[in-house]
Amino acid sequence: MRRLPRGGFRRRIGEAQPVKFLTQERLRPITHAMSDLSFSIDAMSAADHDAVERLHARAFGPGRFARTAYRIREEAGEGAGLSFVARVGSLLVAAVQLTPISLGETRAFMLGPLTVDPPFEGRGIGRALLQRCEDAARALKSDLILLVGDEPYYRRAGYVRVPMGRVTLPGPVDPMRLLALELTPGALAKAQGTVRGVRG
Ligand SMILES: CC(C)(COP(=O)(O)OP(=O)(O)OC[C@H]1O[C@@H](n2cnc3c(N)ncnc32)[C@H](O)[C@@H]1OP(=O)(O)O)[C@@H](O)C(=O)NCCC(=O)NCCS
Repeated sequence: MRRLPRGGFRRRIGEAQPVKFLTQERLRPITHAMSDLSFSIDAMSAADHDAVERLHARAFGPGRFARTAYRIREEAGEGAGLSFVARVGSLLVAAVQLTPISLGETRAFMLGPLTVDPPFEGRGIGRALLQRCEDAARALKSDLILLVGDEPYYRRAGYVRVPMGRVTLPGPVDPMRLLALELTPGALAKAQGTVRGVRG
């Protein structure tokens, strides 16, 4: 059973033209209105690049470039995949990325980094971005989303641990942190092999 963010949120389909970035998919901005904070989620635009980099630098520091997930994104190239941002008013407060990957026959995305600016944590923004990623990956007929992260957090969004030894990444990863969300029934059982970023 999926948990709604604290206080719940209403979803409204915005009237504005969606921003197109990294994909032909047309994505409508969605406004989440909460009791104490309203935020919107839409596709990242090229103009958001520096603000997103600042978020990543603040959350992960210079060591972020050595992370295995970064290697996969490098393999896929900067133009591959989908990126979403959350804004409070015009302020960019969170971001997430989906990178297309190959994993044997499985059509999948690698999710991350997911970053919420600390003053805006705990308002359901991370959860809403995860939901947006899931919706986008489903719309693109993906079988699976993989990520490296804290299981207690992602479990709430339906992610489970990938059985040990089944999936290899191009770099070291704590196997307890390798998680997956199955979008096609049986996809996780079939997923086997080495993850590679797919060029868009
Ligand atoms: C982890 C992160 C994305 C969560 O974003 P958020 O918008 O605060 O998350 P939400 O509001 O959707 O959810 C908040 C809930 O998750 C819990 N939570 C947050 N981080 C958690 C973690 N690492 N493990 C377990 N629970 C966590 C909070 O305690 C809160 O619980 P509550 O609802 O019971 O009060 C954000 O804290 C962040 O950007 N952290 C730094 C970067 C990072 O670690 N990114 C994830 C990479 S794995």
